[in-house]
Amino acid sequence: MTTPTIELKPSASLTSAAERQAILANPGFGRHFTDHMVTIKWTEGRGWHDGQLVPYAPIPLDPATNVLHYAQEIFEGLKAYRRPDGSVATFRPDQNAKRFQRSARRLAMPELPVETFIAACDALVAQDKDWVPAHGGEESLYLRPFMIATEVGLGVKPANEYLFLVIASPAGAYFPGGVKPVSIWVSEDHVRAVPGGMGDAKTGGNYAASLLAQAEAAAQGCAQVCYLDAVERKWVEELGGMNLYFVYGDKIVTPSLTGSILEGVTRDSLLAVARDLGYEAAEGRVSVDQWQQDSADGTLTEVFACGTAAVITPVGTVKRTGGEWQQSGGEPGEVTLRLRQALLDIQRGTAEDKHGWMHRL
Ligand code: COI
Repeated sequence: MTTPTIELKPSASLTSAAERQAILANPGFGRHFTDHMVTIKWTEGRGWHDGQLVPYAPIPLDPATNVLHYAQEIFEGLKAYRRPDGSVATFRPDQNAKRFQRSARRLAMPELPVETFIAACDALVAQDKDWVPAHGGEESLYLRPFMIATEVGLGVKPANEYLFLVIASPAGAYFPGGVKPVSIWVSEDHVRAVPGGMGDAKTGGNYAASLLAQAEAAAQGCAQVCYLDAVERKWVEELGGMNLYFVYGDKIVTPSLTGSILEGVTRDSLLAVARDLGYEAAEGRVSVDQWQQDSADGTLTEVFACGTAAVITPVGTVKRTGGEWQQSGGEPGEVTLRLRQALLDIQRGTAEDKHGWMHRL
């Protein structure tokens, strides 16, 4: 595998400091982008080449570009945090890099070396470091590495050219309510992924497939959709873009990785953080009937969603066909908030990083 260097071609004109401060004061999620981006090309026979850091700009694409028709695309999401001393660190970028390789394999795309993935993220964050929000708040800089098939033509086959990019966006809470509990609609009609499919790859198609059920959730007055397994339609899998955790007193359980669930970095980190805090943490199967039953008899004390964008978001109302209930009386649960704080403390650099997760720039 070739490992290209990244040539720096920063722009002369940047967003003014006043404009940037106004954006950082209320960034929302995915609405504003920093001044630069990284691009690296891949061509069959040549490998990775032409790594560049350039001004953020539209990318011209021929209308017959492969990705526009057959969706050969993968992406990642990770965050850079401002530390108390003003320096910046990203959270477990090696895990995102490895998952990006797994997604690439599943979509018959070339694998970007882990060190190139991390170097690309580092180059962008270093260049646009003024866009990393101040230490202490909920905000961070969300990085979105992605890769598209750029061969021009309508043949259905793995492309012979690809473009890898990293863009960055200052991010506040993913849900407008912040840590207020979100409502969930359990979809019993639509599935997100099937065994042997690409549910464990981070590819745009999985998110496109989630939108109809997401719209149904909205019509039910819910913020998120929860998917069940495709075969038995009974085992809880994940939400449209987040993993789930069930809290049974001092024990937390997340659905096992069955091949149709995304292997979330936050999901994985929480297994360790929970154990560090003295909780029992396990992967297992939870059926939707069990979820409803255990909530009714009080053994299931809290449920929360987790992901890079959502961090940890408590689940409040849960609705399914013929049923509706409240988790933790509709308030954020104690375990949820404790885990959330412990994870954020590591990410923001105010707690010991005993697992060596933070990558300092
Ligand atoms: C993330 O948490 O980074 C995600 O990928 C979820 C979503 C915003 C697509």
